Order: sequence, then C-alpha cells, then structure tokens
Amino acid sequence: MKRAVLFALATAALALGAAAQKSAPPKPATPPPPAATSTAATSTQPGAPAAAPAEPQTKPGQYIGVASCANSGCHGSTQPLKEAHVLQNEYYTWLSNDRHAGAYNVLFNERSARIGKNMHLKKKPYQEGVCLDCHSTNVPAKLVSGRIDVEDGVQCEACHGPAGGWRAEHTQTGWTHEQSVAGGMIDLRNIPTRATTCLSCHLGNKTREVDHELIASGHPILAFELDNYSETMPAHWAPHKDTHGVPAWAAGQAIAFRDSLDNLARHARGDKWPEFSDMSCFNCHHSLDSGPARQERGWPGRAGLPSWSPQHWAVLRLIIGHSDSSGRAHLDDLVEQIASRVSRMNDPNGVATAAEDARRTIDAIIPKMAKMSWKDDDVRAMMRTLTGDEEFILHSDVASAEQTALALQSLAANLARNNKALLKSPMTQAIDALFAEIQNRDHYDPARFAQKLQAVRSTL
Ligand code: HEC
Ligand code: HEC
Ligand code: HEC
Ligand code: HEC
Repeated sequence: MKRAVLFALATAALALGAAAQKSAPPKPATPPPPAATSTAATSTQPGAPAAAPAEPQTKPGQYIGVASCANSGCHGSTQPLKEAHVLQNEYYTWLSNDRHAGAYNVLFNERSARIGKNMHLKKKPYQEGVCLDCHSTNVPAKLVSGRIDVEDGVQCEACHGPAGGWRAEHTQTGWTHEQSVAGGMIDLRNIPTRATTCLSCHLGNKTREVDHELIASGHPILAFELDNYSETMPAHWAPHKDTHGVPAWAAGQAIAFRDSLDNLARHARGDKWPEFSDMSCFNCHHSLDSGPARQERGWPGRAGLPSWSPQHWAVLRLIIGHSDSSGRAHLDDLVEQIASRVSRMNDPNGVATAAEDARRTIDAIIPKMAKMSWKDDDVRAMMRTLTGDEEFILHSDVASAEQTALALQSLAANLARNNKALLKSPMTQAIDALFAEIQNRDHYDPARFAQKLQAVRSTL
C-alpha cells in the first residue's frame, strides 16, 4: 500500500539522514537563542518595557528560523499539551518524523551526487540553489533577520511563511489567526493556499521545477495529491474536518491542474520548449517489444507523435463532470487543443494560449470546489465513476493511472474515517493492488490496470 511504501521510504530517509549527519547534523532540540524565549512568558503583557529591547528586529516578510519556534513552551514540547488550541509539539513531530526535516540531508546521498554530475553543476548539490530551493528554506539574505540554517531543510517557515511579522505577536492573548495572516503567515487552513504552497515544491512553479533535465539526470519523478500527501505527513495539527478530507482532495485536483497549466504556458512562451516533462514519458521511453499492443490500441492523431500527459486532468474531469457537464465539455475542447498542439510541438504560442484559456476557466471554479459538500454516498458514487473510467485509462499514461489510484485511496481513507472496518476490507486490498501495478513504471500495462480497477469496482 502506498502509505506503507511511503513509510518504508521515510524510514530509509531517516537512515540516510543519520548517515549524512557528519556533514549535516540535524538540529538537536536545544532551546532557541535568548531573544526568542521571552515571548511565551511575557506575551500576556505585550507592552512590558523589559521585553522590548530583547526582541529581534523583525518585520513582516522577514524569515527568523526554526529555532525561534522550538521553545518547549511554544512548539517544542515533546508531548501534545492541552493549554493552547494547537498541539505545541509541532517541532518535535517535524524533527523526529517528518521527511521535510531531512530534505537537505538527501542532497548528500549518492543519487544527489549523480544528479549533480549529470547536470554539470559547478558546486555540490547541497550548495546549489537549484536543489536548495526545494530541499531547504532558501531565501535571499536580505529577507533573513533571524538565523536560517540550510541544514534545517524544509522548516516551518517554508510552509507557514516568514514569521517576522507575527512570531512575537501570535502568542498574545486575543491575537487571531487572521492577524497572523495579515502579518505574513501563509493561511494553510485555506485549501487553495495550502495546495499552492505544497505544489510550489511538489509540482514546481516559475522559480523552481523538476524538469526533464533533472529527471534525465536521475531525480525522481514527482507525483502529488493534496489530501493523500497531507495525511501522509505526520500530522502536527489538530484535525480540522473542513480543511482536510474530500474537499481538499477535490480542490487539490483543480489547483494542481491550474498550476501545471501555468508551467506549460511558461515553457511554451520561454526558451525551454519543447519541455519533455509535459509529455507522457513512455511515448519516447519504451522498448519496442510490446509494439503490437500499441498497434492494436492505435493513435489519436498522427502515429508516433508524443502525447501531452493528461495526468492532472485525469481525475479532475470526472469531478467537474459530476456537477457541471457543460463546464466539462468546454474544458474538454480546450484540453484537446492543448494535447494536439503539445504533441506537434511546432506551435508554442498556440499551446500557451490554450493553456491560459483553460487556466482561467479552472481558476474560476476552484472556490466552488473547495466548498463542495461530500456525503459518504457521493464519495462512493465518485469511486464508482473512477473505477469505470476504462476507456480513458487504456489511452493514457502511468502518471494518470497513479492519480486515479491516489484518488481512490484518498476517498477510501475518508470513508474509513467513519467505518474503521473498511481498513481491512477487500476494497482496501483491491486499491493496494492498483499501486502494485504502477510501482514498476517500466512494465506498466494499461489493460491490466483497467482490470484491477474493475476488481475495485466489484468491492464497492
Ligand atoms: C521543484 C522542487 C525540487 C527541486 C528543484 C529539486 N528537488 Fe529533489 N525532490 C523534490 C521532492 C518534492 C522530492 C520528494 C519526491 C517524493 O517522494 O514525492 C525530491 C526527492 C529527491 C531525492 C530522492 C529522495 C531520497 O530520499 O533519496 C533526491 C536524491 C533529490 N530530490 C535530489 C535533488 C537534487 C540533487 C536537486 C538539485 C539538482 C533537487 N533534488 C532538486 C523536489 C525538488
Ligand atoms: C511541509 C509543510 C509544513 C511544515 C514544514 C510545517 N508545517 Fe505546520 N502545518 C502544515 C499544515 C499542512 C498544517 C495544517 C493546516 C490546516 O489544515 O489547518 C499545519 C498546521 C500547523 C499548526 C496548527 C495551525 C492551525 O491553524 O491550527 C501549527 C501550530 C504548526 N503547523 C506549526 C508548525 C511548526 C512550529 C513547524 C516547524 C517546526 C511547522 N509547522 C512545519 C504544514 C507544515
Ligand atoms: C520547500 C519545498 C517543499 C514544500 C513547500 C513542501 N514540500 Fe513536501 N517535500 C519536499 C521535499 C524536498 C521532500 C523530499 C524529502 C526527502 O526525500 O527526504 C518532500 C517530501 C514530502 C512527503 C514525503 C513523500 C514520500 O514519498 O514519502 C510528503 C508526504 C510531503 N512532502 C507532503 C507535503 C505537503 C502536504 C506539503 C504542503 C502542506 C508539502 N509537502 C510542502 C519539499 C517540500
Ligand atoms: C519527446 C520525447 C521524450 C519524452 C516525452 C521524455 N523523454 Fe526522457 N529522454 C528523451 C531523450 C531523447 C533522452 C536522451 C536519451 C539518451 O541520451 O539515451 C531522454 C533521457 C531520459 C533519461 C536519461 C536516460 C535514461 O534512459 O535513463 C531519463 C531517466 C528520462 N529521459 C526520463 C523521462 C521521464 C521520466 C519522462 C516523463 C516525465 C521523459 N523522460 C519524457 C526523450 C523524451
């Protein structure tokens, strides 16, 4: 099962982290510098004159570093505390179990060294901005007023935003989440904001991405699904029913598609065209042995042209179709234009225009999707739709199949929240079997995956 696989990976990463300790020691849970410790005790007297000179010079937009969150009276308790509305052991959870804390350490492993060599990087991967942008909290020095250590990897502020404008204030009685957000905190309770934050590293954006050059050099292919990946992180938050679960899954699909269209339009308008990571890998990378299967399937356009990868549209089209069939038809047209233009590669402006059109349409429906309400029956109906999508699966790629599997797993996990027995049911086993099919991408067979989808359907 994916989560089991993720867990194994996490354990391996911890081991790797331990191996890399010599050069990159993870931060021990030491008390933060004195300047940062004063807030918890004095926070109820914001005007107290004694505290003022000890405060670091921070302002909105300034990064101050994980040490200033890690005080045991703040977020550095080893156990969840009951005094505040948050758990207060967030730092401990992140440091001991979260892959993000070790994200810098992986830049010391052999795979990173190979990527660096293939990309002809001048410095070591752990010194290169192109890697640090996603594997650390790599912000310009002028935005740092505390202490940012690259070794801290993806630390609190990489997700929650620069704390200079709210760190000292947010422990004061009566201070609200909205006030923190106004001071520069990223509002992760807002599903679209959270999705864009995660996707900035897990899909890439205009400042950083895992393109075909990185992949060809040895970087793993990135896959992401908001609900699944949020729940896979060791939770350092108290459960918020309305910001997690199926609404996050649905809106997360739309945001991933929107952000992938931004990337596509940018590639097409820039000098990085054609960018092969926008396409289905196996159109270009496969052995010729299994040729007859492709010849039976046939080609949508001219035989042999590589296809645009529909991975971010694969699941979303079913969610949109569920509630808005004319919206779906309009997007189907735009997607067809994108696909045929990407495939021919000779009309980058046309690619960008179609991508920008589709992007606008998607953007307009995102707020609606984040507010959709899902009863268990709706979730089951969506699972039936996903498992009945055989035609699409047969004509698309392994990355799209992976999105279908992640979607089914996420929806099943949401059903299991109200019915624990489902965790060990034939349905769960049938979904695990989908992951087994996509684990070895080189031998992915759409027809076999479609059969396994039928098997999931028969358990619903
Ligand atoms: C756009 C963001 C991004 C960039 C740029 C990036 N990475 Fe990654 N990298 C990731 C993410 C996200 C993962 C985790 C993928 C997953 O498991 O879903 C990852 C995983 C990895 C892994 C495998 C992790 C492991 O535990 O072995 C290695 C190695 C790696 N990256 C090295 C590099 C190197 C070296 C560079 C620079 C040349 C780099 N990365 C640039 C986002 C990025
Ligand atoms: C990889 C991204 C990421 C990192 C790194 C991260 N967090 Fe979070 N954090 C989240 C997400 C996602 C939530 C849940 C937000 C929601 O759904 O309301 C959250 C929630 C929280 C909450 C509860 C907030 C609330 O609105 O109820 C606190 C407190 C918190 N994080 C503190 C920390 C601290 C301290 C660190 C560093 C030690 C940290 N986080 C690192 C992603 C992250
Ligand atoms: C600053 C970049 C960055 C941001 C922002 C970020 N991540 Fe990550 N994430 C990474 C990197 C890099 C890795 C890989 C670390 C490793 O291999 O040790 C990773 C790993 C993960 C993993 C483990 C994946 C696996 O294969 O086991 C999960 C789950 C995850 N991230 C979820 C999230 C979620 C959810 C968010 C948003 C709330 C988020 N991430 C935000 C960079 C980021
Ligand atoms: C339009 C064709 C095309 C597409 C699509 C494409 N690639 Fe490539 N890729 C190439 C070519 C050409 C090379 C160089 C091959 C060589 O030098 O042997 C290459 C090299 C590679 C390499 C390094 C060489 C090797 O065989 O290990 C990897 C890994 C790779 N691509 C992975 C991918 C992945 C993953 C995707 C999808 C995200 C993808 N490629 C999409 C054409 C493509």
